[in-house]
Amino acid sequence: MAAALEDELGDIVQKARDGKSFSQGDLARAVGLSVGKVGRIESYEWIPEDSVLLKLAGALDLHGPSLVAIAREKWVPEEITPDPDPFDIICLNVYMGLYPVKCYLLTCRETHATAVIDTGGDPEAVIKKVRELDLQPEKILLTHAHPDHAGGLSQLDREFQCPTWLDKKEPRPSGSRNLQFVEGGDLISLGKLKIEAIATRGHTPGGISYRINRSIISGDAIFAGSMGRANSSWSLLFNSITQNLLTLPEDTRLYPGHGPATTVGEEKQHNPFFCGKVGGEE
Ligand SMILES: [Fe+2]
Repeated sequence: MAAALEDELGDIVQKARDGKSFSQGDLARAVGLSVGKVGRIESYEWIPEDSVLLKLAGALDLHGPSLVAIAREKWVPEEITPDPDPFDIICLNVYMGLYPVKCYLLTCRETHATAVIDTGGDPEAVIKKVRELDLQPEKILLTHAHPDHAGGLSQLDREFQCPTWLDKKEPRPSGSRNLQFVEGGDLISLGKLKIEAIATRGHTPGGISYRINRSIISGDAIFAGSMGRANSSWSLLFNSITQNLLTLPEDTRLYPGHGPATTVGEEKQHNPFFCGKVGGEE
C-alpha cells in the first residue's frame, strides 16, 4: 500500500488561497460558503460534496478533478521504480519531535562515495544506517535550512567531519565548520556521479533540489499532490516547480522532504496545482 500523501484537502485549499492572496472571507464569498465552513475545510473538519470542491478549485485556480480525487482519497502516486543508473538512494524517516522528515543517503555504487541529503532534526537514524552500511559520507547537501531538515547538522558534522553545501541565498544554519555554497546549475561531484543543483526557491529564499540523472531530491518544493508552503514567495515557488522541475522527462523521480516519492509525469497529471499548466513531454 502506497504511503499517504503529505497534504490533505485543507492544506491544499489553504496554500492555494495563499497563492491568490485571498482571505478566508474572500474565498467564502467567491464560492458561496460561510467563512466558518471555509475554516472547517482548512482545519480538516469537513470535506464538502464534489460540486463545492469544483467551485473551490475554480476560485483557487486548481485542477478540479485532481482536487476531488485527493479529497476523496482516490489518488496516490504509483510506487516508483528506482533509477537503474549506478547509484543508490536510501530514504530515511528522521524525526523532529513526532514529525517525520525524509532524509536521503546517496551513494555512488562504483566508488561508495556517499552524501547525506538533509539531516533531519535528530539524525541518529542517519548515523545508524551509515554505520550499518559501513559508509563514510564525504558531503552533506541541504535542500534548505529549516530546522526539520538541517537541525541535526552539528551532530552530523562532528560524526562525519565533512563539508556541507547549501544555496548562498539560504539563511546560514549553525553546526557546520565547513560551509560551501551552491546555486542553480552548479555541478557537485560524488565519486563518478555528477549532482546538479536546481534552484527551487520560494519555500525558502534559497531552496535547492539535487538531481542525479533522472532522480531529484526536492526538499519542500513539491509534494506528491501538493506544493510546499510558500514562506518566501508563492509565485517564485510555483514558477520554480513549473519551469525547473516539471519540464524534466516524465519518468524523472521526485523524492520530497515529506510524503511519498512521485514522478514528474504523475504530478503533471494529478497535482491540482500543476495539472494542465505544464506542457507535455517533447
Ligand atoms: Fe521546510
